Amino acid sequence: MDQIRIIEVSPRDGLQNEKVPVPTSAKASLIVSLREAGLEEIEVSSFVSPKWVPQLGDVSELWPLLPDGGLYSALVPNARGYENARALGVSRISVFTAASSAFTLKNINMTVAESLDGFRPILKEHEGFKRAYVSTIFECPYAGRIEPAAVAKLAEELFEIGADEISLGDTIGVGTPSEVTQLHEAIRHLDHQKIVWHFHDTRGTAIANVAKALELGYRSFDASAGGLGGCPYAKGAGGNLATEDLVYFAHREGLTTGVDLLKLSQATLPIFEILGRPPTAKVQLAALAEWRSSQESAQQ
Ligand code: HMG
Ligand code: MG
Repeated sequence: MDQIRIIEVSPRDGLQNEKVPVPTSAKASLIVSLREAGLEEIEVSSFVSPKWVPQLGDVSELWPLLPDGGLYSALVPNARGYENARALGVSRISVFTAASSAFTLKNINMTVAESLDGFRPILKEHEGFKRAYVSTIFECPYAGRIEPAAVAKLAEELFEIGADEISLGDTIGVGTPSEVTQLHEAIRHLDHQKIVWHFHDTRGTAIANVAKALELGYRSFDASAGGLGGCPYAKGAGGNLATEDLVYFAHREGLTTGVDLLKLSQATLPIFEILGRPPTAKVQLAALAEWRSSQESAQQ
């Protein structure tokens, strides 16, 4: 059977924008639950300034608590972040930039060109796995529509300077399937296996975009359990594509994921309790409701 690859980003993208501080122990428990649900690749946190993203300021305390056996990664924006990551023995790093300098200036206080200058020595030196994010692939909240050719050029440059894979981010969740196709046309000369799609579901188009990307032959997707997420520097960036929605869709389409949907749907419940709101991801709610009703009928 055809398998898809899921990179779980809830501990990082899911939590980074949340104002209620989530205790480090709760983040570690979330990661244990995600692993138990069958997710292997997990983006755990970021080595960014705690003044900019206070929620992830505990990365150095969290890292030693990670359960054995997963493929854990973290965001690294600059040399300082890379030094901190290296000190903890982090082997999978993700640098991040965007197709628009208007966005990178808000997000990392650098132009796109400056970000590449900063990444070059990091990607050269690092011996482990190196991901590079390109944000605002369809539209920038500050600069408007983005040309697919600009994304393609940036992706080429990132591969040239040493990235092992590129994650293409629809940061503000605006894209539709025809835009996925247009971008695919612009990047079709690049290795599909090294391209990951990172959809936000702000306007409910994420799963339609996944369907299009699958049809075009892509098999790797970032997703966030419970649909948690949003970028603090992207106005209106709603939750990420919910991992539950992705897993359900994949299974129903005859693809395998290695993920247990019920365990996954339960994994974020303690986090929602801390955040003080109920889960809203569609497939998660359906899986939990089905489970509760099967529990009730078992008791009768
Ligand atoms: P800056 O203020 O320009 O940095 O921030 P600076 O070099 O001028 O330093 C200022 C202070 O920050 C100094 O401390 C530095 O030591 C410290 P002070 O002297 O004032 O006490 N500093 C750091 N501390 C910890 N870790 C570091 C670090 N670097 C400097 N790495 C910086 C530049 C990049 C650090 C800042 O802009 C930042 O942290 N930004 C946060 C960016 C971020 O996390 N954004 C969200 C993730 S991106 C995203 O969500 C999109 C994605 O999901 C894909 C998609 O959806 O499209 C990936
Ligand atoms: Mg994101």
